[in-house]
Amino acid sequence: MEIIILPTEEAVASRVADEFENAIRNAADGRITLGLATGSSPLKSYGELVRRHREEGLSFKNAQAFLLDEYVGLPRTHEQSYYRFIRDNFTSLIDIADDAVNSPNGEADDPRAEAIRYDEAIAAAGGVDLQILGIGTDGHIGFNEPGSALTSRTRLKTLTEQTISDNMRFFTDGETVPIHVLTQGLGTISQARRIVLTATGEGKAEAIAAMSEGAVSAFCPASVLQLHQKVTVVIDDAAASKLKLADYYRFVQEKKPLV
Ligand code: F6R
Repeated sequence: MEIIILPTEEAVASRVADEFENAIRNAADGRITLGLATGSSPLKSYGELVRRHREEGLSFKNAQAFLLDEYVGLPRTHEQSYYRFIRDNFTSLIDIADDAVNSPNGEADDPRAEAIRYDEAIAAAGGVDLQILGIGTDGHIGFNEPGSALTSRTRLKTLTEQTISDNMRFFTDGETVPIHVLTQGLGTISQARRIVLTATGEGKAEAIAAMSEGAVSAFCPASVLQLHQKVTVVIDDAAASKLKLADYYRFVQEKKPLV
């Protein structure tokens, strides 16, 4: 796991955007499968990618994308459905084809069957080349809450009270946060060829420390990333504030071999 600690949210966003840009430019004809997270963590990175698309010609026209998760029972038209969130905040602002942006159908009559279909669709598309992740304050990635099997596949999950309360900020007064979700499993996410996890702010510091320096355990689902060979964690000083080896990670970046 490579841990990159940067001073500001802007620097974090720019670095995450660099990872996307390099991956797209290195893919033949830009044919790449991106794994997209929703939530607040990647928003500035998406904003920077939109800027590079508009001002520097970065093209996503041959890309396809798979979202991590979706609320069950929330109509696609609801602005907090992840179907809509990713379009409003990213994909409608770049040149990716709308029908190349895939997400689990949270309105499916049979959510369990939908989860299996979605997992199979990712595999049929050749798997995810570059997955971006945020992390929940309880250590979830996707919506794999503590206790999730480290090998789990896409499935129906129940959110923790902590996640429901964390996500209330996105919903208007009087609305309730859905408690059920469809999420790629930890095993599904782990099959992405490359993973970039981003987090900013002190609220994420404990989860970042547990993920990268704690035990690999279902209690901190993100810790499964310790078993993946190509994970880059891009965080700001505040999110890094509980890392025991923060100085070492900074030293590694300073002294990075050129070869
Ligand atoms: C969203 C997702 C979640 C979020 C996490 C952090 O698609 O998969 O794991 O990344 O809940 O949310 P924010 O970024 O809003 O703090």
